[in-house]
Amino acid sequence: MATTSRPKKPVTNCRSPKRPSPKPLPKPSPGLKPTTMSSKTAGPLAGQVVLITGSESGIGRETARAFCRLGAAVVLNGRQPARLEATRQALAAEGYLVAACVADVTDYAACERLVATALTAFGRLDVLITNASISQRAYFADMQPEVFRQVFDSNVYGSVYPLKAALPHLIAARGSVTFISSISALNGMPSGSAYCAGKAALANLAHTLRLELADTGVHFGVVYIGFTQNDPDKRVLDAAGQPVPIAHRPPRWQKSQAQVAAIILSHVRRRRRRTVISALGRLILVVHALLPRLGDWVVLTSQRRLRKFYE
Ligand SMILES: NC(=O)c1ccc[n+]([C@@H]2O[C@H](COP(=O)([O-])OP(=O)(O)OC[C@H]3O[C@@H](n4cnc5c(N)ncnc54)[C@H](OP(=O)(O)O)[C@@H]3O)[C@@H](O)[C@H]2O)c1
Repeated sequence: MATTSRPKKPVTNCRSPKRPSPKPLPKPSPGLKPTTMSSKTAGPLAGQVVLITGSESGIGRETARAFCRLGAAVVLNGRQPARLEATRQALAAEGYLVAACVADVTDYAACERLVATALTAFGRLDVLITNASISQRAYFADMQPEVFRQVFDSNVYGSVYPLKAALPHLIAARGSVTFISSISALNGMPSGSAYCAGKAALANLAHTLRLELADTGVHFGVVYIGFTQNDPDKRVLDAAGQPVPIAHRPPRWQKSQAQVAAIILSHVRRRRRRTVISALGRLILVVHALLPRLGDWVVLTSQRRLRKFYE
């Protein structure tokens, strides 16, 4: 669907605010601490345009709110029109500058529409956060091949395609790209083969792009998220591809979505290469590097004792 030829016209399935941001882009401010400022479209990120995939719900929605609070304009995305529109309306009602585009990020043409929405609504694109993802609750031996592909694609092509579509604009802005990964990708996790493989691939992608595109000034980073509170209606895929609730996680192990969003915001503003969330995540990182056999022993033991945690 071509959308770039008539700049102010809303794209089908994509909603833009009435007033495009006229402000010039301030320079990125690495080193600035996140603040709790809530002055609607004013703030340290005023004039910056942020695209967050999978932001109709969960961590993506809270991350959108965190960027909005500092004055950024945000393009929201998801696959479910009603849920996406509800999120857009909620943030717009809070006074924030938001647009939204229904797009499956594993479809390149849809990603072109998504990026066009940012340009149509706000005239530029500074930050891309690839957050959309499908997770799983299924052992590899039981998984339908198509289910593996779906989970893997949502994490890998769901990051590659939005980035391919956005890259020229991010280069023009000397912007920032953050791939959302998981601490389960740092060592691998039983019942998460396609998810962990997809999330792990993002680290190498970020590193390679950092080298290939070093001259462009674009920031490439990865955030490894640990256990986080989930929306009650969050679903993951079982071995047959059926949506099922996520496996049980003790609430005391979980961060709130707002806490995680604040960490993602800080990661982007500081243009960090890697942010590992939670003490458990940092422990996995160290044990995987220095004592990998011990790490595997802990996982295998916990798998026997805490089946509910994996299944
Ligand atoms: N929550 C945790 O404990 C945790 C832990 C580690 C890492 N993470 C990571 O954090 C990120 C956010 O997770 P979350 O807990 O907030 O999950 P979530 O609530 O399920 O959010 C994921 C979003 O991505 C969307 N999405 C999935 N596939 C898509 C596609 N092909 N195109 C467009 N949108 C798509 C989903 O919408 P649909 O309704 O269209 O599926 C949903 O809005 C994910 O990358 C996840 O892997 C989360």
